[in-house]
Amino acid sequence: MKEGGKSLGFVPTMGALHAGHIKLVTEAGKQADTVAASIFVNPLQFGEHEDLDRYPRREEADAAMLAEAGCSLLWLPAAEQIYPDGYTTKISVAGVSERWEGEARPGHFDGVATVVAKLLVAMTPDVALFGEKDFQQLAVIRRMVADLGLPVDIIGIPTVRDADGLALSSRNAYLSAEERQRALALPNALQHAADGIAAGEPVGRLLATAKQALIDAGFLKIDYLALVDAGTLEPLAEPAGEMRLIAAATIGGTRLIDNVSVISATP
Ligand code: PAJ
Repeated sequence: MKEGGKSLGFVPTMGALHAGHIKLVTEAGKQADTVAASIFVNPLQFGEHEDLDRYPRREEADAAMLAEAGCSLLWLPAAEQIYPDGYTTKISVAGVSERWEGEARPGHFDGVATVVAKLLVAMTPDVALFGEKDFQQLAVIRRMVADLGLPVDIIGIPTVRDADGLALSSRNAYLSAEERQRALALPNALQHAADGIAAGEPVGRLLATAKQALIDAGFLKIDYLALVDAGTLEPLAEPAGEMRLIAAATIGGTRLIDNVSVISATP
């Protein structure tokens, strides 16, 4: 979609927008002449017992925020537009999608890859922007775009956080005030472990300490907390190459994910 030779930047979302999404839009404005966004709560990426029905929906407020941030094209497809009667095709990205979120949420990344491919094919943007907040998702999308040879540049944008460090997420709306406070243990534990790795401390002990900090703060279920290769998402027992610390854990009824970059101690 390059009307009159103008470049297009695209930001796919599921709505309930916050400053993290808006950062993607303003960055898109720096990368392209025209900015488009989509809001589609994609049923294919939600598990049977997940929050599809209660996922926050506020399209009017979202549309106003997008316009304010310089987005001039908003697509709100109906489910039948994306998945018409008789639809059966799925995109499955092996390898990078299999661990972590893939294990905790079977089928999730097939749903993400399928809808993102469809949105990219429909919009034909020059660049598409995704948040590092969903670090594995970004890696899955990069792999899919490379594998399918889709003619679009994928740009990752650093996580936007509240002043106290909690990563912005549409799902933070589910947290009570007390849970919101306790949830801070997640970014704090990750950052503490990342600092320890940078200082050359043993990875295994740092990960165990971080998990204990989550349990002490009241997280009831830790799906994973791991040091991984930033490209393949394979776990690392020792620091090596480009790394990321990633985690998913549940507080109250709310599952939160977060990740931080890790700088190696080795020169
Ligand atoms: P959604 O959760 O609405 O997120 C839309 C985009 O915003 C994603 O690229 C996500 O990584 C980014 N984002 C969310 N919180 C962020 C934060 N705190 N800082 C920076 N970026 C942030 O992710 C999805 O929707 C869907 O899976 C989608 C890609 C739209 C496919 O359905």
